[in-house]
Amino acid sequence: MAILLPGGAGYIGSHTAVELLNAGKDVVILDNFSNSKPEVLEKIKEITGKDFKFYEADYLDREALEKVFKENEIEAVLNFAGYKAVGESVEKPLEYYHNNITGCLVLLQTMKKYNVKKFIFSSSATVYGEPEKIPLTEDCKTGGTTNPYGTTKLFIEQILKDLYKSDNTWDICILRYFNPVGSHESGLIGEEPQGIPNNLMPYIARVAAGQLKELSVFGNDYNTPDGTGVRDYIHVVDLAKGHVCALNKLDKESKGLFIYNLGTGTGYSVLDMVKAFEKATGKNVPYKIAPRRAGDIATCYADPEKAKKELGWVATKTLEDMCKDSWNYIEKSSK
Ligand code: WQD
Repeated sequence: MAILLPGGAGYIGSHTAVELLNAGKDVVILDNFSNSKPEVLEKIKEITGKDFKFYEADYLDREALEKVFKENEIEAVLNFAGYKAVGESVEKPLEYYHNNITGCLVLLQTMKKYNVKKFIFSSSATVYGEPEKIPLTEDCKTGGTTNPYGTTKLFIEQILKDLYKSDNTWDICILRYFNPVGSHESGLIGEEPQGIPNNLMPYIARVAAGQLKELSVFGNDYNTPDGTGVRDYIHVVDLAKGHVCALNKLDKESKGLFIYNLGTGTGYSVLDMVKAFEKATGKNVPYKIAPRRAGDIATCYADPEKAKKELGWVATKTLEDMCKDSWNYIEKSSK
């Protein structure tokens, strides 16, 4: 029995593949390398010392997907094949809705056809829109997303709820990621943003590497301790381990549709991140204060208690680990 990972060569998919293989699971990866590289597959093998099957295909390709289900005994699917760049989603809404939503529908239909009904979905804290309260609990209201990327996450959550309502033999876990950062400690796999990064940590790392001149801090007049935006940064390896815990829950314990926040429960400001990065790496990160970025909120962090109680999962890596490991990957991959 194997776990299928569409998008398993990407940033979060590859780290999750490592943790699944380390936990003794069989893994099948399907990826079209639209936002990843073939070398990642070798790195996953190098880190784990384990082999796995790979299919180069788009998860929108129904025939290719069916081939995977015919040739393997798939027991569960973890979907990492969504597009994830917020700004790009504003420019290319049709591409985002098509890839994220149609792709997920094709995947779910194929799973149904082959009677595979365990599904873990990569959602995002972005579904909470303007937070109703801080820290965010899973029962907080959702909606009011400010870009097509976030709306695809919201819509897919609704699709999954409707699917479960229609047939409660599905086992579904929705994981709402907060701000994933960092890389595997080996420095062999990590985040590979194409072009100029939009997210804070990869941007800081490029500034530290001298590839970008300075960081623009988007707003210092928010109602936060230092005026800059506060987020719940979570090490990608902790996040990946959260998927293994979620899968164990669907395997062993109860059946149903579950939703969990995957965050640390601690918020750090943009300036906290700059200082932590400088301290952890000894590099300089020049910055300037710039206007607020459209669509940003002041503060967003998780209450991770539900995942702790029901999945036995807690994030254990520190902010220093996140900074060191991000830098380690940049250094290793530029050699
Ligand atoms: C963090 C903080 C910025 C860049 C987004 C998506 C979310 C998820 C993660 C995507 C904010 C500030 C940033 C910069 C800055 N999904 N910032 N200068 O916006 O919390 O979340 O990424 O994969 O769904 O919405 O993350 O890293 O972009 O920003 O000052 O150059 O850093 O204003 O306060 P965000 P982020």
